[in-house]
Amino acid sequence: MVKARPDIDAQTRLYAVFGDPVAHSLSPAMHNRAFRETGHNGVYVALRVRDIGAAVAAVRSLSLGGVSITVPHKTTVIPFLDEVDAGAKVIGAVNTIVNQAGRLWGYNTDAPAAVWALKETVSLDDRQVAILGAGGAARAVGFGLAAEKVPIVIVNRTPTAGKKLAERLGAGFETIEAFQPADDTILINTTPVGMWPQVDAVPIPTDRLRPGMMVMDIIYNPLQSRLLQEAAARGCPVLNGIPMFVYQGALQFKLWTAQPEAPLAVMKQVVQDALTTATVDSTGRPQLKRGIK
Ligand code: ATR
Repeated sequence: MVKARPDIDAQTRLYAVFGDPVAHSLSPAMHNRAFRETGHNGVYVALRVRDIGAAVAAVRSLSLGGVSITVPHKTTVIPFLDEVDAGAKVIGAVNTIVNQAGRLWGYNTDAPAAVWALKETVSLDDRQVAILGAGGAARAVGFGLAAEKVPIVIVNRTPTAGKKLAERLGAGFETIEAFQPADDTILINTTPVGMWPQVDAVPIPTDRLRPGMMVMDIIYNPLQSRLLQEAAARGCPVLNGIPMFVYQGALQFKLWTAQPEAPLAVMKQVVQDALTTATVDSTGRPQLKRGIK
């Protein structure tokens, strides 16, 4: 049975996402819905943060329960924390702060979320993964998949960045021009190419797509990037960025509330609804309908 979240009272814990920009984040809608669904007495807000050190000091002084960290603070937040989980340390990026009795812990839930989203859709056995991009998102996806012992190739525009990440992952490297996927390649786009407003852009020439490939895009605005549309038209199974986004939030929810499970169905629904019913503002970001909580 759905429990009602208690009214905001003296016991209510505050949670937030720190980022810049952050006004169009889907995290408040998703997390507040999860809190309400499970009866967790918390409120989650989006805060535009420029000085991450000062913001982390506020987490301590105001005893926030937890924080999501997004662009551009995922790496620069690390020196301000008390402890960093081993996975986040290896990746070099934190997307989650947990306030454990006054000690601030950093975690990375992007990496396990990417693996979760992928593995529930496709078996990784005897497959190879090609990761397009070598930035922060590629690092999280790459380290997550490297732990699964899948052969990985990094495909990036800039060879220096691509080779550096490939070396750290024990992966191969190819330039975009030279890369020729195999029939059983799982292709994952981690670049922003194809994201609104560049909706016609593709991160790799579409003639490289083969029917046996699986194609995942971490982009969810638009819901079906042109890469996914082109792949689907060639018969490839495709996966958009919603599951990974929801799962990184679900793992945060579990860390913050110590509940054994997150209410995945409603979290997914609120994100899906927001993206399918949203109008877009002048920057192309989704405008959440009022009333989604
Ligand atoms: P994030 O943290 O979101 O991953 P990032 O660290 O800025 O963002 O990384 C963006 C990645 O997308 C990089 O790998 C970048 O390639 P370069 O290393 O060559 O810069 C890639 N990228 C961004 N715009 C691109 C474009 N127009 N074509 C190809 N790759 C692009």
